[in-house]
Amino acid sequence: MKFNLPRQIVCQEIRGIISREMRKQKMTIPCASRERLKEIAKISKAIEQWSLPKYLVCRKLPYDLGQGIFLRPDAAPILKGQVIAPYAGEVSLVPQNRSDDAAYAFAPLSDIHLKKEEQDFLDEKNSYHPRRLYSLKLDALKKGNFTRFINHSEKPNIVARLLSIPSNPYFIAPASIEVVYIAKKVIRPGEQLLVCYEDGEKSYWGVFDIKPFPMTPQTFQLTSSLRIANMGVE
Ligand SMILES: C[S@@+](CC[C@H](N)C(=O)[O-])C[C@H]1O[C@@H](n2cnc3c(N)ncnc32)[C@H](O)[C@@H]1O
Repeated sequence: MKFNLPRQIVCQEIRGIISREMRKQKMTIPCASRERLKEIAKISKAIEQWSLPKYLVCRKLPYDLGQGIFLRPDAAPILKGQVIAPYAGEVSLVPQNRSDDAAYAFAPLSDIHLKKEEQDFLDEKNSYHPRRLYSLKLDALKKGNFTRFINHSEKPNIVARLLSIPSNPYFIAPASIEVVYIAKKVIRPGEQLLVCYEDGEKSYWGVFDIKPFPMTPQTFQLTSSLRIANMGVE
């Protein structure tokens, strides 16, 4: 797998804007605990080394669903609350009103005001407008890790959480905001890892004008020979 980016890539300028806007918007997000930091450090190493941790398998699914990520049939269950991985990708700022069909993107922060010099630098395509609002875009289209292959379900076993990463002794770069995938329930061997793309906000599928295929973590299962078995539509 060519996607071996352990964490998001954010330039210095955007880092400063994120901190400022979070303060301005009085946005508080939970700080990653010591346990979580250790898990993030461990999974980051595994991603750098193998792209896909040994206990996961990436397989092509039927019905034009593309690829999906499964827990190996011979692996230990993933426990509720366990870190799956940070959702890695390239972070940019995009005008908020632009219709966005980015299939691999999150918008963890919106309603961002940029100063003239920031717009000139970060949004060369548009001329300066003092009231234009921007969103933070975390996009795994070109760079990311295995989390970009995790498919959508209305009954997911993973949840996307926003965490801040404090200074730490585990060599994980601090971040004001980071999207981290966490197990929402126990994930059993052979099950597919699934997340709901529209937690709260109904925005993802409307843009593509398609109805998502209804699947649960058990709809497709990985057999002991690492083949996909269709256990029937939800
Ligand atoms: C973040 S990617 C997930 C990985 C994707 N399967 C791949 O191979 O690159 C999101 C895209 O996967 C497909 N997808 C994920 N879950 C789906 C679902 N429940 N029904 C239909 N398509 C789905 C859609 O094409 C969606 O835009």
